[in-house]
Amino acid sequence: MSIRIVGTGSALPKRRVENREIVGLVDTSDAWIRERTGIAGRYISTGETVASLAAQACRRALEDAGKQAGEVELILAATCSPEEAAPCVACRIQKDIGAGNAVAFDLNAACSGFLFALHTAWAYVEAGICKNALIAGSEVLSKLVDWEDRGTCILFGDGAGAVYVEKCESGGILGFVMHADGQRGGVLAGGGRQLINPWAGRQDFRPFLEMDGREVFAFALRQVPVTVEEALGKSGLATGDIDLFVLHQANRRIIEGISKRLGADLARFPMNLEQVGNTSSAAIPLLLDQLRRQGRIERGMHLVLSGFGAGLTCGACAMEW
Ligand code: COA
Repeated sequence: MSIRIVGTGSALPKRRVENREIVGLVDTSDAWIRERTGIAGRYISTGETVASLAAQACRRALEDAGKQAGEVELILAATCSPEEAAPCVACRIQKDIGAGNAVAFDLNAACSGFLFALHTAWAYVEAGICKNALIAGSEVLSKLVDWEDRGTCILFGDGAGAVYVEKCESGGILGFVMHADGQRGGVLAGGGRQLINPWAGRQDFRPFLEMDGREVFAFALRQVPVTVEEALGKSGLATGDIDLFVLHQANRRIIEGISKRLGADLARFPMNLEQVGNTSSAAIPLLLDQLRRQGRIERGMHLVLSGFGAGLTCGACAMEW
């Protein structure tokens, strides 16, 4: 028994921001950003929220799967950038799409969040708790990014992706691996709220994301290939069996490096980061949805999904679509 992705959906904010619009904010250039990251532009919220983008992506995923909202048993929202602490994003999705029979909660594993949520849904189905789930990855990181820090503001974009998954008797997810290393969490951290109460003195806090880009780069290059190979080992598949490696969209050079380390042709590593930047937990479901709608994913194909990010966290799964 396993779970299979039956429908996909995605949503992006209306406002597109090209590299040249960032050049006016920090000391950078379109050429530098393209060459060092592969990113040409991204979509930035001018009012869309994590929940509104997620709900739109979920509606599209349900429509794609041919399902009614009332049939959904579990809604998981992966995000590290909710606008408010309560209610959680998943409950807002539940209300917006009218999925009154679903239980709903959020998960935060930063850019690995979608994979961790997919793993949770898989475990719930395997445990017999539910038979289907709607999983969204949604971020509006633009409010946590320091638009005066050229090391981070060039990278991130806002958006959402969602998948509807169902229990299946064969195929679907074949192997899953996840890792977390809190000891090294400091290399990508921040985006906090100040402690304000009558008893707390003045506190240091980091309102924006701060990152040691080189460390994160090295972590991804080292850890993702190992994690992918572990997931392949669990699934009984080999690198050569995989039609598409759908990786977290952080940096073109990271994906190129991973393809080399895995010994797999770069043509099997689809990318959309040039258009959308790094959308964190939305990156993998957003790319899956675009690939599906372009007709590049068909039933029976073998895929690897793999993400990495703050935590530090990393995960991979191998599946038959
Ligand atoms: N424009 C122009 N120059 C920039 C710049 C920018 N936006 N950002 C950094 N630089 C400069 C640096 O100051 C440095 O200058 P120096 O040599 O005079 O000190 C030089 O470019 C090289 O910096 P470096 O940090 O080594 O660049 P890089 O090639 O590692 O690229 C990142 C920087 C952030 C693009 C890259 O490290 C990266 O993508 N890391 C992974 C980040 C990531 O994926 N985070 C999210 C994880 S989910």
